[in-house]
Formats: sequence, C-alpha cells, structure tokens
Amino acid sequence: MIIRLANTDDIEALRPLVGAYSIETAAQGTERNDELLLDAILYGIRAGEAVVVAEQFDELIGWCAWVHLPLSPPGKVEGLGTYVVDGMRQEYVSRDLRKFAEEHARGRGYRYVEGCAANDNVAGFQSVMRLGFKVVGQLVRKEF
Ligand SMILES: CC(C)(COP(=O)(O)OP(=O)(O)OC[C@H]1O[C@@H](n2cnc3c(N)ncnc32)[C@H](O)[C@@H]1OP(=O)(O)O)[C@@H](O)C(=O)NCCC(=O)NCCS
Repeated sequence: MIIRLANTDDIEALRPLVGAYSIETAAQGTERNDELLLDAILYGIRAGEAVVVAEQFDELIGWCAWVHLPLSPPGKVEGLGTYVVDGMRQEYVSRDLRKFAEEHARGRGYRYVEGCAANDNVAGFQSVMRLGFKVVGQLVRKEF
C-alpha cells in the first residue's frame, strides 16, 4: 500500500469515495454536501494542502483531507474527512493516512486539526481518539 499526497489526476477516482463517505457519515448523523466537499478537496490539492490518498494495486482505497481553507483561523486545518473502503478497514489505513496528513500539515506551519465525528460513528470516533484527538466542545443544532 502507498500513502501519498493526492494530485489533480486523482479527482475522478476520488469522486465515488467522497460520495461513499458522505452517504455513510450522513447515515450516522453528520450532514454532508458532496459537491462542496469535492470542491474543498480540489482546492486543497491545488493549494498543496494535506489531501492524502492510500493506493493499492493502482486503486484508491482511502483518503484523508486536512485543509486550511480561506476562512480558517490561522494555524488550523479543517478535518474535511477520512475514508477507507469497506474491505480494507481495521488494517490501520486511516491511522497511516492521518499520520501522513499530520506531518504534512505540521510541515506547512499549521498547529491543529478539527473535525466532526457523529455520535453514532463509533469507528470514526475511536479511530481519532486512538491518535490523541480530544473532544473540545459540542455541536449544537436546532432544526427549523
Ligand atoms: C472511521 C474509519 C476511517 C476507520 O478506518 P480504519 O482504517 O478501519 O481504522 P484503523 O484500522 O486505522 O483503526 C484505528 C483504530 O480505530 C478504531 N476502530 C476502527 N474501526 C473500528 C470499529 N469498527 N469499531 C470500533 N473501533 C474501531 C480502533 O480503535 C482501531 O485501533 P485498535 O484496532 O488498535 O483498537 C473507517 O471506518 C471509515 O472510513 N468509516 C466511514 C467514514 C468515517 O466515518 N470517517 C471518519 C469520520 S470521523
């Protein structure tokens, strides 16, 4: 397996993996917008941010995007998402993706990443807690 930075040639292969991520995390309670997410990922790739892919036998099997967006506070990267295809889970692919992303983001001078794990997303939550993430607040929402 290869972990590497994504490039613009990866975007078509990333598209279905981003869609699958949106569907799965939405089912757990985190609202997503595929097109907006893809745009932010493409922005990150072009800006040289930590958009990282895992590749096996010439196929993408996972991605992780930690991107400083134009309105992000200084020092912060937005944890836009991390996804590993079903058959490759619990083999530490997400750990390797996030470690690569962290090193890359730190090398660019950023100091922290923040993302969102839905309450029902046990795998997502556990996988970040194992890497030293801390819960720093709570999302509040009122439907209208
Ligand atoms: C969450 C996700 C990225 C984890 O990817 P992964 O490559 O399977 O995770 P890893 O193999 O790196 O697991 C690392 C740790 O995460 C935890 N973990 C992973 N899958 C788990 C599961 N199904 N249930 C409970 N804990 C799990 C474990 O603590 C594991 O370490 P351990 O085996 O030493 O205890 C993957 O399940 C996924 O793509 N889910 C859908 C998208 C998503 O939810 N993304 C994260 C949003 S916060």
